[in-house]
Amino acid sequence: MQSVRFLALAGALALSFAVAGAMADSPASFLERFNADARNAGEGPGNAARGQKFFNQTHGNEWKCAACHGAVPTGKGEHAVTHKIIEPMAPAFNPQRFTDAAKVDKWFRRNCKDVLARECTAREKADVMAWLIGLK
Ligand code: HEC
Repeated sequence: MQSVRFLALAGALALSFAVAGAMADSPASFLERFNADARNAGEGPGNAARGQKFFNQTHGNEWKCAACHGAVPTGKGEHAVTHKIIEPMAPAFNPQRFTDAAKVDKWFRRNCKDVLARECTAREKADVMAWLIGLK
């Protein structure tokens, strides 16, 4: 009986953490998270001008972020290889963006590997985030 009650409590706790976690994912919360990570790495907070430059530059490989997402991602992009339409990246133009940590982390990892042949640093993510959030 005791253990059943404990399990129920643990389940309820896990659920409320999951709900709170899901609700906490927003463009602003990602910017906060990346800024904090960048500060911890001694690289200071994100900067929108740097983010714009980063997004529109190649980094050794063939592609830049803009190759699929567009130079100013307030509109739709097109995948450089598959030509599939990619919905706007700027959160003001696409409310679904930056609302799911699993998705954001997965695509940052994957796209940074394609573009930079490594993962992006916290500051690079903070820079991109600061720029995207500012696009109105
Ligand atoms: C080869 C094409 C391609 C390139 C280059 C590319 N992306 Fe993406 N990106 C995608 C696709 C495809 C998705 C997933 C489909 C979608 O979300 O519309 C995506 C999704 C994302 C997401 C998920 C955002 C969200 O919350 O929905 C982020 C963040 C992202 N890309 C950042 C970047 C950054 C930063 C770069 C440059 C380092 C980059 N991408 C370069 C194709 C690309």
